[in-house]
Amino acid sequence: MKIAIASDHGGFALKEKIREHLEERLLEVIDLGTYSEESVDYPTYGKLCGETVVSGEADLGIVVCGTGIGISIAANKVKGVRCGLCTSVEMARLTKQHNNANVLALGGRTTSVNDAFEIVDAWLEADFEGGRHQRRVDMLDNI
Ligand code: RB5
Repeated sequence: MKIAIASDHGGFALKEKIREHLEERLLEVIDLGTYSEESVDYPTYGKLCGETVVSGEADLGIVVCGTGIGISIAANKVKGVRCGLCTSVEMARLTKQHNNANVLALGGRTTSVNDAFEIVDAWLEADFEGGRHQRRVDMLDNI
């Protein structure tokens, strides 16, 4: 499985930790940047990660900014992206099971590294439940 990751400067430190964590899990990572703490614009990176997932170059994406809010808004502007901003393991599990989220957003200034690892793992390990949720997910593509 290939996972695209991207962040702005506010999410850079956590994005680096997540890359290491994914690589330790032997997952293939496409690191789309940013590559330093120099100030950049989160819409650029949310869009890039979303496009990388929708094109099929990556199976899933993870985006990080200071709060996760701005970069999740940007990712969700890309048609076909279902990005869930998660602050708990329960949210991470549910955003895959119910929303079939193909991009996970995290806040580098609001979520600890350990919590982020647990959130990422829960999201990766959960499966979309389909059934009644499929019709609603299909509706998202028609908005
Ligand atoms: C950048 O300072 C900050 O606004 C950004 O990382 C993010 O929190 C936006 O939602």
